[in-house]
Amino acid sequence: MKNKHLIGLEGYPKQDINEIIETAFSFKEVLERPIKKVPSLQGKTIVNLFFENSTRTRISFELAEKRLSADSINFSASSSSLNKGETFKDTVKNIESMKIDAAVIRHSFPGSALMLTNYIDSVVINAGDGTHEHPTQALLDIVSLKEKFGYIKNLKIGIIGDIAHSRVALSNIYGLITLGAKVTLCGPSTLMPIKIEELGLTVNNNIDEVIEWADAINVLRIQRERMNNALIPSVREYRKLFGITQSRIEKHNSELVIMHPGPMNRWVEIDSNVADSEQAIILDQVLNGVATRMAILYLLLSGTTKKDS
Ligand code: CP
Repeated sequence: MKNKHLIGLEGYPKQDINEIIETAFSFKEVLERPIKKVPSLQGKTIVNLFFENSTRTRISFELAEKRLSADSINFSASSSSLNKGETFKDTVKNIESMKIDAAVIRHSFPGSALMLTNYIDSVVINAGDGTHEHPTQALLDIVSLKEKFGYIKNLKIGIIGDIAHSRVALSNIYGLITLGAKVTLCGPSTLMPIKIEELGLTVNNNIDEVIEWADAINVLRIQRERMNNALIPSVREYRKLFGITQSRIEKHNSELVIMHPGPMNRWVEIDSNVADSEQAIILDQVLNGVATRMAILYLLLSGTTKKDS
């Protein structure tokens, strides 16, 4: 791997993304075995620094670490000495002094994963930093697409919803464009970053056209707190204009693959029966998350790093 850390997919080498995908498929095979464990990271210690809530990412990383036989430690901000006034810097430097090899970090502050690389020498993996990036989610999404279609180049992907506040969207955009996919964004113009087309994608605010065009759509969670800022008039209005509803899906391409990174607001951005349908690969994404995170941990920690970045 070219980079020591995984902070984001902006500028991340295509060759390394492909290596992660191929390694994830090998580990997926391990996850199908009766004994789902390999000794690849025996003797390595990984700390999961979760300063923000998580279900999928936290459990997925912890499982990936255990499946690779690493020693896994969970830090929870709510029960830590941060509550006694200790700084982020002191907290992470104290944890590193106990001889860890890697830190996985989730934090609500954009840039926190990069900032952590200034404080510790261990490998840092970004598990979601505010509205910036969520690279492991994008990589598991790409692994899920590759598993479903067999290729990524020229695959037509619609990303639907709150693009402006979505770290999942941004990491998917960088990763998919690097691999040659065609990406169209669809959502309210109040939730669309300005000049986003400059990244080499298309914006189309007509959800029916995007559904008709796409091979797969990735449906983002509507962050209800945005409604307080008047960025979305109402849940009902959003669902009418951009919701992935049963009636909308029935009118279109029956081969369409439907993805969602979770957590879902059923009946808001996606109808419950659509989320549970044969077209949806949402739970496959979750399983692929474990295999993908195993691949990332293995490739970054098994001694193949060439240089710091
Ligand atoms: N997709 C995702 O990041 O989910 P969690 O917030 O539950 O980790």
